[in-house]
Amino acid sequence: MKIQNQHYHTIWTKKDDPETVQVIDQRVLPHQLVIHDISTPEEAALAISDMVVRGAPLIGVTAAYGLYLACLRSTADTELEAVAQALKAARPTAVNLAWAVDTVMAELRDVGAEERTAVALAAAERIQSEDIEICRMIGVHGLELIRELYQKKQRTINVLTHCNAGWLATVDWGTATSPVYHAMEADIPVHVWVDETRPRNQGANLTAYEMVQQEVPHTLIVDNTGGHLMQHGMVDLVIVGTDRTTSCGDVANKIGTYLKALAAKDNNVPFYVALPSSTIDWDLKDGVKEIPIEQRSEEEVTHISGWANDQVQKVRLSPEGTPAANYGFDVTPARLVTGLITERGVCEASEEGLLSLFPERAHTHG
Ligand code: MRU
Repeated sequence: MKIQNQHYHTIWTKKDDPETVQVIDQRVLPHQLVIHDISTPEEAALAISDMVVRGAPLIGVTAAYGLYLACLRSTADTELEAVAQALKAARPTAVNLAWAVDTVMAELRDVGAEERTAVALAAAERIQSEDIEICRMIGVHGLELIRELYQKKQRTINVLTHCNAGWLATVDWGTATSPVYHAMEADIPVHVWVDETRPRNQGANLTAYEMVQQEVPHTLIVDNTGGHLMQHGMVDLVIVGTDRTTSCGDVANKIGTYLKALAAKDNNVPFYVALPSSTIDWDLKDGVKEIPIEQRSEEEVTHISGWANDQVQKVRLSPEGTPAANYGFDVTPARLVTGLITERGVCEASEEGLLSLFPERAHTHG
């Protein structure tokens, strides 16, 4: 998508130095556009855990490139297995990370040491370009939901989203935002309510930035506003992303998503979740019991970052000595989800729904 009218992806290999991977440093957006170099697998793992890059699909792609960087140093099995474990441990909730690492590792195990660097690079590039097409297709299918509402209401369609499931969380297009961008292209008037998404403010910092750059009409709201807007008919549909979807359609997404789903249910507002199939964990059924929820540092809650004196600065919000809990994600049970928007189409959030789109998984999950 565009930044200052120039087309960007979120990750690429450096021009004239293919042994360096470059990403947009999301810690300083929207205030600064800084390109961050990653030259070792350790730097790739750190970029993921430190949230230089974030968002389920993008951390998967970054990990795939991390294995390529590992191969540049050593293609020995033991070294690659250790890097694979370290990359997977960088963040626990998004299953795309483990999926991407396992995908690349399976290909590396199949070839001799001398081929591994080329195979790892090709796999990372393939996962990256597949992500672009998958997100585009999520937009194509999600557009029809927006179009249907527009045909019925004949006015601007108000979409509420939480966190950043936009192009900055993927390689391009985003998941939850792709239908919005496709609606813009189809000349359907849309407006996006952007949840600020405490504690790290991915909505205020990243989704709002995307909306400005793509010229999408939008309004930033604090996290607790959605229910009020829904009670007053000001939200036509909710679209969020997910970090892990169980085979029965439960979805883990940024903390606070569950409360939006409850409010949507109470107000008859359709609640859709947009996801690439790499987000489906076919081994899990009950999301609340089985999905590991990341807990991050207290400081992300007790402090807040912003732009002052030409730099990103952190200030304290709460008294010294107040403990804080920082659960990164929550699980929205399938019963609260109107539908799942995937690259193959829209389905019910259930095992039957998912298998209707992915019948090849019928015999491969427990
Ligand atoms: O902690 P983050 O910023 O990585 O959380 C991101 C989200 O919760 C996104 O909604 C999710 O990864 C889907 S991204 C297409």
